[in-house]
Amino acid sequence: METHNKIALVTGGNRGIGFAIAQGLLSHNFDVIITSRTLAEAQQAAQKLSGKVIPLELDVRNDRSIEQAIQTLTVHNIDYLDVLINNAGVYPDNNVNIVTVGREVLETAMQINTYGVIRMVQACLPLLEKSQDGRIINLSSGMGKLDGLTTTAPGYCLSKLALNGATILLSQSLEPKGIAVNAMGPGWVKTDMGGDAAPRSPAQGADTAIWLATEAPSSETGKFWRDRKAVPF
Ligand SMILES: NC(=O)c1ccc[n+]([C@@H]2O[C@H](COP(=O)([O-])OP(=O)(O)OC[C@H]3O[C@@H](n4cnc5c(N)ncnc54)[C@H](OP(=O)(O)O)[C@@H]3O)[C@@H](O)[C@H]2O)c1
Repeated sequence: METHNKIALVTGGNRGIGFAIAQGLLSHNFDVIITSRTLAEAQQAAQKLSGKVIPLELDVRNDRSIEQAIQTLTVHNIDYLDVLINNAGVYPDNNVNIVTVGREVLETAMQINTYGVIRMVQACLPLLEKSQDGRIINLSSGMGKLDGLTTTAPGYCLSKLALNGATILLSQSLEPKGIAVNAMGPGWVKTDMGGDAAPRSPAQGADTAIWLATEAPSSETGKFWRDRKAVPF
């Protein structure tokens, strides 16, 4: 009987935690689609990975870009998706707090960290529905948990708080289709976003997302995970 590798799409898979997630999934014999906002950066990252990797251009802020990325998958003969990892994200808060932040920063955070995820799920749904074990993993943050909100990162915190809410809603909608939807926090990770002082490596930050994509029971849905354990939102 012909067997097929599982296929995962990792947004923002060209660097940081997303790149480490792609590496981990390849070592679990997945075929992996990695995206970046420029095709050149996705291609450069793909060259550093071994296994079947498809580089794609994608800006999750832009519906047309999402549509084009999904259409490009058909060119690569991809007609199903087992795992969607919504990893792409931004931390736009710079020297602001909740009483000084402008609309633009709030808008940027929400557009990319929250609405981008919702639109990606909607766009990938027809492909995920063809999987026997569809899974969606949203890279959230401890700063989006109710006990982790902090006034100096209002855009980031509120966008991840809303992402956690979207995770709950999506899990409710997609449970009847057998698709699990979970959020996870990677901890403070040494990346372009996390900075050099962060204690965790990208591989450590990626671990729970890889586990949710591979070994976690598929009955687990609608939860927030940290270090492979469910914790309160
Ligand atoms: N690092 C931490 O300490 C930490 C802690 C908690 C949660 N997280 C979360 O983990 C995820 C990954 O973070 P990271 O530290 O690896 O960040 P990073 O190193 O800054 O990488 C961010 C990734 O997101 C992509 N991206 C940004 N805006 C995008 C857009 N509009 N459309 C598509 N892709 C976009 C970037 O692609 P380009 O290269 O094209 O810009 C890049 O691949 C994020 O969701 C973040 O919020 C990180």
